[in-house]
Amino acid sequence: MPDFQGRRIVLTGVSRGIGLVCARALLEQGAAVLGVGRDSERLNRAIQELSQLGDFAALRVDVGAPRAAALVAGAVQQRWGVLDVLVNNAAVMDWRANFEAERPETLEQTLRVNLIAAPPADFGTASYVAKKRRPPHRERELGFGNVF
Ligand SMILES: NC(=O)c1ccc[n+]([C@@H]2O[C@H](COP(=O)([O-])OP(=O)(O)OC[C@H]3O[C@@H](n4cnc5c(N)ncnc54)[C@H](OP(=O)(O)O)[C@@H]3O)[C@@H](O)[C@H]2O)c1
Repeated sequence: MPDFQGRRIVLTGVSRGIGLVCARALLEQGAAVLGVGRDSERLNRAIQELSQLGDFAALRVDVGAPRAAALVAGAVQQRWGVLDVLVNNAAVMDWRANFEAERPETLEQTLRVNLIAAPPADFGTASYVAKKRRPPHRERELGFGNVF
């Protein structure tokens, strides 16, 4: 189990489900978490709960939006100047029918959020991801910080 004490972590999809559970666990282990979500009401509920547990802040960003990575990068710069860990957890699973019957908008949104909006690459080029505590073979592979 990695040591998350003092780690600065961006966690997308923080407002419910696995992301919310992970945020709780990370804060309890002493990490600082910047959570990203979309729905204001759920995000506010998460803020109320998680800020009791430790160093937590939230950012309302649709990770499928064109400027999403820049917005998150800006928030990281302002808050920490550097990032240790990205937990890229946000995804949509809105399938209600078989593939042929699915609405084009749902398909498009699913592909955009789950596949195209892959912040790690953008975060890397934004060059604020910390280069530390990375096994040498992974450093060579990706060239920037920890991406889970
Ligand atoms: N649950 C499972 O059985 C399972 C199994 C295998 C893998 N996974 C993976 O684990 C991850 C989390 O799953 P989950 O079950 O916890 O999902 P979930 O309950 O549907 O939660 C998804 C989270 O992602 C956020 N999100 C979705 N689209 C977003 C967007 N465009 N911009 C910003 N945030 C967005 C949601 O925020 P909002 O409040 O804004 O909607 C929510 O916080 C996903 O990557 C999923 O593929 C889950």
